[in-house]
Amino acid sequence: MKKYKDIAGDGGSNIVGQVEAQQARLSERLAAVHAVVAIVSGKGGVGKSSLTANLACCLALGGFRVGVLDADLNGPTMAKMLGVRGQRLVFASGGVEPPRTSLGVKVMSMDLLLPSDSAPLTWDAETQAEAHTWRGSMEASALREFLADTNWGELDALLLDLPPGTDRLVTIASLVERLTGTVVVTIPSDVSHLVVRKSITVASQVKAPVLGLVENMTGLFPGPDAALLARDAGIPFLGRVPFDPALAAAADRGEPFVARAPESAAARALTAVAEKIRAAIAAPAS
Ligand SMILES: Nc1ncnc2c1ncn2[C@@H]1O[C@H](COP(=O)(O)OP(=O)(O)OP(=O)(O)O)[C@@H](O)[C@H]1O
Ligand SMILES: [Mg+2]
Repeated sequence: MKKYKDIAGDGGSNIVGQVEAQQARLSERLAAVHAVVAIVSGKGGVGKSSLTANLACCLALGGFRVGVLDADLNGPTMAKMLGVRGQRLVFASGGVEPPRTSLGVKVMSMDLLLPSDSAPLTWDAETQAEAHTWRGSMEASALREFLADTNWGELDALLLDLPPGTDRLVTIASLVERLTGTVVVTIPSDVSHLVVRKSITVASQVKAPVLGLVENMTGLFPGPDAALLARDAGIPFLGRVPFDPALAAAADRGEPFVARAPESAAARALTAVAEKIRAAIAAPAS
C-alpha cells in the first residue's frame, strides 16, 4: 500500500481541482438562495430538528419559498419530521430534485439516500480507524456535495439542521460563504446552558450574525431563564417554545404541527419566533 509520502502531488487525481469545481457549483447554486440560516446547539436533543422543521413550515405558510438541508449525516431526522421519508429522489441533469412537503418545503437529507432503515452512514476507507481519522473532511465533502448538487431553485430561505456539537458550525461556515445567520437552541437546564454558552461563543466567531437564542421545551421542568443567558451573551432572545407532547407526536407522524394545531401555545410561539427570523433575514417579497 502506498503511504502518503510516496504520492507525488495529489497522485494525479486533481482533487484540489475537483473540490474547487464543486465549491464553485455550490456558490452558483446558493446565489439563488436569499438567506441561509443554520439552527445550532452544542447540546444534543434540545429540539434543533423540531425547531428547523416547524420554522420551515411557518415560513412556508407565510409565503416563503423554503428549503431544508439535513446537515446531520449520522442521525438524519428531517425527512421523517417533514413527512417525505421514502420518497424517491429524481436525478435530473442539473442535480437532484429534492422532495417537497405538503407545504412545499424542499428537503434534502442523507436519510433519502440510505438504502434501509437500519443502515448507518459508513465511509469507505481501508480500515475503520482510517475512516475515523478522515471523518471530518469526509463529512465536509458530503455536505458540500449536498449543497452543490441539489436543485434548490430560487429560495427565500434555506434552513440547515445541524447535528449536536459545538464544532459543526465551523465546517458549515467554511462551505457556505454567504451564511446569513445562526439560531441557537437551548432547553431550560443548567447542563444545557453550560454547553450552549460555548455554542454561542462559536456562533459569534463565524462571520454570520447570531440571529438569537430560542428556549425550547419550556415548562417541562424548572430551570434557568434563557432570556438571561441571551442578555449576558449580548444576543437577541427569540422566545420560548413550550413543551407539548402533540408537537412530538406530529413530528413522529411527519405532519406540520404549526399547520395542524395553529392555536396551540407551542404553535403560536413557533410562529412568533419565525416572524422574528423572517424580519431579521428580510427576504424580498416576490
Ligand atoms: N417543544 C417540544 N415539546 C415536546 N417535544 C419536543 C419539543 N421539542 C422537541 N421535542 C421532541 O424531543 C425529541 C428531540 O427533539 P429533536 O430531535 O428535535 O432534538 P435535536 O436537538 O435535533 O436532537 P439531536 O441533537 O439528536 O439532533 C424529539 O422526539 C422531539 O419530537
Ligand atoms: Mg437533530
